[in-house]
Amino acid sequence: MGPTTPQLAHARVEDEVQPFGFDEATSSLKVLDQRLLPGSVHYTTLTDSDGVAEAIVSMKVRGAPAIGLVAAYGLAMLAARETSDRQVFAGVMGIAAKALIATRPTAVNLSRSVMHMVQEAMSVADREPQARAAHLLMAAKRLHADDLAANRRLGTFGARFLTGNRRLLTHCHTGALACGGWGTAIGILRTLGGEGRLAHVYANETRPYLQGARLTAWELQTLGLPVTLLTDAMGPALMASGDIDGVVVGADRISPRGDVANKIGTYALAIAARYHNLPFIVAASTATMDHAWGPETRIVIEERSSDEAALIRGERLAPEGVAYRHPAFDITPASLVTAIITENGVWHPHA
Ligand code: MRU
Repeated sequence: MGPTTPQLAHARVEDEVQPFGFDEATSSLKVLDQRLLPGSVHYTTLTDSDGVAEAIVSMKVRGAPAIGLVAAYGLAMLAARETSDRQVFAGVMGIAAKALIATRPTAVNLSRSVMHMVQEAMSVADREPQARAAHLLMAAKRLHADDLAANRRLGTFGARFLTGNRRLLTHCHTGALACGGWGTAIGILRTLGGEGRLAHVYANETRPYLQGARLTAWELQTLGLPVTLLTDAMGPALMASGDIDGVVVGADRISPRGDVANKIGTYALAIAARYHNLPFIVAASTATMDHAWGPETRIVIEERSSDEAALIRGERLAPEGVAYRHPAFDITPASLVTAIITENGVWHPHA
């Protein structure tokens, strides 16, 4: 078992590695290329919303809250474009918004943030480009600050809900790098760690893109939190042997009933947690709620390139030509969810 007293879980948010940041001097967005972690910390400079769309598609930046926020900055950069014609401006914003939303269709944070920015843009469409850009930059910064505040708050609610000293399993990556800071599921782990109540974290490596192995393990280790990496199929066996007290994951979209779309593999964990009578907890800000997700709605599950499953860092694992599927997300029904923790508190979808 790892140490129970983390050294850095209280590290100030402003001291940790930033996933992205707007540079006002150059009107550009610096984005940490998460694909290169943990080997190298490299920032790419983006100057327009097309560049932002490419960074989202290629997963330089990923995680539902983070992609919503960089898209907002992308639209703020676009608003500086030299046109004083309201119609032309509306057209340009509409095209960019559509392109951004199409990049990753499952995370509702992205479309919510883009639609919010379009609304803000239309409210200042008659102003000079500079004034428009300043207004949209403020709007993007507000979204960014709100996400960070929501994560800090939900971390406190989650830690309060998880009484005692906990050994928790998590999936994918939900830390500061996936958000505007702090993290959602990892935010709860950090809060528990700060209170000296995080006995251990088991992090699934998260096939096929390995967000757990590359990012969760790195972020938790950097924070001084006790982490052990597992391959995705190991969790149920550790539940059976009594090594795990519960599962905490993030979300890309949550229905009004409490169904949860999240990284592929989440559903299997929820089934295993139910079988072993363990709490299955979802952490997300209310920006991840999709009020339009009705009982008959089929939300879009992003299918990514099979190369991400067949190759690791360019190296082929399976025979050339063999078929692979790569649905990037799955849906966990509300009936398997013990609690959803948001900045507003703890919601029991079943109660
Ligand atoms: O494909 P990714 O890496 O963007 O998937 C990320 C997840 O599934 C996270 O759990 C979710 O976006 C929440 S991040 C706070």
